[in-house]
Amino acid sequence: MAILVTGGAGFIGSHTTLELLNAGYEVVVMDNLSNASAVSLERVKELTGKDVKFYQTDILDREGTEKIFKENKIESVIHFAGLKAVGESVAKPWEYYHNNIAGSLVLFDVMRKNGCKNIIFSSSATVYGTPSQIPVTESCPKGEITNPYGQTKSMLEQILTDIQKADTEWNVILLRYFNPIGAHESGRIGENPNGIPNNLMPYITQVAVGKLKELGIFGDDYDTPDGTGVRDYIHVTDLAIGHVKSVKKLEENPGLKIYNLGTGTGYSVLDIVHNFEAATGVKIPYQIKPRRPGDIATNYADPSLAKEELGWVAERDIRKMCEDAWRWQSNNPNGFEA
Ligand code: WQD
Repeated sequence: MAILVTGGAGFIGSHTTLELLNAGYEVVVMDNLSNASAVSLERVKELTGKDVKFYQTDILDREGTEKIFKENKIESVIHFAGLKAVGESVAKPWEYYHNNIAGSLVLFDVMRKNGCKNIIFSSSATVYGTPSQIPVTESCPKGEITNPYGQTKSMLEQILTDIQKADTEWNVILLRYFNPIGAHESGRIGENPNGIPNNLMPYITQVAVGKLKELGIFGDDYDTPDGTGVRDYIHVTDLAIGHVKSVKKLEENPGLKIYNLGTGTGYSVLDIVHNFEAATGVKIPYQIKPRRPGDIATNYADPSLAKEELGWVAERDIRKMCEDAWRWQSNNPNGFEA
C-alpha cells in the first residue's frame, strides 16, 4: 500500500515525501514538473536511502492519472499539485481555475473509481481572509478572499467537504498552512521559486546571496508592535511531519477534519530580517515601501486542535528556520540547476 503525493517534487511536497519515507511509508509521486525539478526527488532518495516511484503526470491528464492507480495500490493521497502564485492568479484566473479545480476534479474522480477515498488536501490560512479573531482557530468563518489562487483553495475545501458528506466512506483532512519557510537541515532540498520571489523568506535569501539588491518591506504603519506585518512562519519540516501525522489520522477513519498548521507565534517582517541576520551573520539591506494590496496586519494560528487530535506541534524555532533557509540558498544559489 502506497501514499500518492501529487506535486511531490515541489517545495512542501518534497519535504513531505522525505518525512513519509523516513516514517516507513511507500511513496508514489506524481508531478508535471511545471514548477519543480525531479532533482529534488533524487536528493530525497539520497537523504533517505529509499526509493520513490515517480510519474511525470499532470492531474488534468485522466489517462495518466488512472495509469498510476492501475500500477500501484494507492491507499491515500496527499494533494499538493496546483498553481500557487497569488499575483499571477489575478492575471491568469482561467489557468488557476482550470489547473487547480478541473485538475483536482479529475484526481478525485479517478480516486473514487479506484476505491481510494482517503485524502489530505494542501490548503491555506488564506481561506480565512481577514480573520475574525487572532489567533485563528479552525472554527473561524472563512472570509473574503481577494485572489483566484485563494479562491481555488477555498473551493476545493468545499468540494471535498461535499464529497465526504455525500459518501461517508471518504476521509478528508484539510490542512490550512500558515507561512511555510526554511528547508531540510541538510541544505539539499528547499524552496526554488520561479523568477523574482513573491514571498518574504526566499526574497531575503536571494538578497543575502547577492541575486537581489535589497528587500522592500511592504508597509511599516500597520497596527503591530513595529508597524510591519506579522505572520506565523512555520518550518517546512514541521509542516511535513504534520502530514505524516495526518496520514496516521486517516487510518482511524476520521471523516472530515480541518487543522491549522502553524506555530501559534507571530513574527513581524523586521523580526524575520533581524533573526536572519543573527542566524547567518549576513546583513539584509532593506527599504520601506508602500503596503502591498491585499495584505493584512496580523495573522497567526491557534494550533491547539492539531496538538490535541494529531499529537503534532511545530518544534523548530525561527532561528532554525533562518539557518536552514540560508544553508539551502547558499549551497544552491541557482536552486536545482547545476
Ligand atoms: C509575509 C509578510 C508581506 C515580501 C502568502 C499567500 C498565502 C500563502 C503564503 C502560498 C507580509 C511581507 C513579503 C516582500 C515584504 N500562499 N513582505 N516584502 O502574504 O502572508 O502569504 O504566501 O503559496 O496564501 O497569501 O506571505 O511571504 O508573501 O509575506 O515586506 O518582498 O512579508 O507584506 O507582511 P503572505 P509573504
